[in-house]
Amino acid sequence: MENILIIGSNGFIGSHLSVYLKDNVYDVTGCDIASKPLYDIKYFQVDSLKPDYSKIFNHSEYAAIINCSGAASVPDSFKTPETDFTLNAVNVMKQLESIRESNAGCTYLNISSAAVYGNPAELPIKEDAKLSPVSPYGFHKLCAETICNEYRTLYGLKASSLRVFSAYGPGLRKQIFYDIAKKTMYDSEIHVFGTGNETRDYIHIKDICHAIYLLISSKKALPTVINIANGVQVPVKNVVDEIKSALDSGKKVVFSEHNRTGDPLYWQADISVLKQFGYKQTVSLENGVKEYIEWLKKAEK
Ligand SMILES: NC(=O)c1ccc[n+]([C@@H]2O[C@H](COP(=O)([O-])OP(=O)(O)OC[C@H]3O[C@@H](n4cnc5c(N)ncnc54)[C@H](O)[C@@H]3O)[C@@H](O)[C@H]2O)c1
Repeated sequence: MENILIIGSNGFIGSHLSVYLKDNVYDVTGCDIASKPLYDIKYFQVDSLKPDYSKIFNHSEYAAIINCSGAASVPDSFKTPETDFTLNAVNVMKQLESIRESNAGCTYLNISSAAVYGNPAELPIKEDAKLSPVSPYGFHKLCAETICNEYRTLYGLKASSLRVFSAYGPGLRKQIFYDIAKKTMYDSEIHVFGTGNETRDYIHIKDICHAIYLLISSKKALPTVINIANGVQVPVKNVVDEIKSALDSGKKVVFSEHNRTGDPLYWQADISVLKQFGYKQTVSLENGVKEYIEWLKKAEK
């Protein structure tokens, strides 16, 4: 059984990935800033301000290390850009330094984001498209990608960046799904940023975990960057309709007609690279939204 280390194992993506990889017969070790893991896995706590990752490698070597830690909010990155930089870029450098010294043969996957693309000139977005972030978050994810490339090129580490598009699923208490679902449940009208025509390429957390599983279990060398999405462009108004339908709501929807600073307008990924590793979508948006709403209803009780 291969050893896998998940950094940020108590977060939304990290916690789902811990369970998924454990169920798929990997020996999973977690690492986060909390005192305890969420699930029954081997675990290291690191300091939130001065994380020292080197102690993790004192006793074990890992076949793959997946970094799911980091700040995950565009609005927060405008308010506290330095914190965002520390979490998204400085910590990646610290992790890669420890890996270079103690576990240089592993595969290192850093969860990056579609935010590195900003507003792309054409859709679907290929990995070699021009990178023009429009938020501190996007710029810092791009810094982290550059650091991964540095360690890949100069030190020969097997470091790759996964540009995850719009993730959703049970446990997510932020971003559009949570915001719209809560407004549909509790507000008299559903107020939404933008026109409703903006698009995102949504991917359910189970499919993200499956994609990562395919990458770490592949015998092929991994490219420098890989888009993680379904290659489907979905307008925001369709997500609102799916959530209203899952909650059986007839509430009025009011679009602000203004976009939030830092939010790109249209996203659709080219996923031909990911497909080469055998990826296929398994959770449709309709089923994913139904499952998310069932989870939220129970969580809100
Ligand atoms: N959720 C999305 O839609 C999405 C999309 C694209 C990319 N991403 C990226 O994926 C990553 C994970 O996102 P998420 O939604 O799971 O975020 P999250 O905030 O739920 O999880 C992040 C986890 O990292 C932990 N952490 C913070 N500092 C740490 C440190 N120094 N060492 C170890 N752990 C630390 C936190 O305690 C938390 O448990 C982030 O980098 C985010 O930018 C997320």
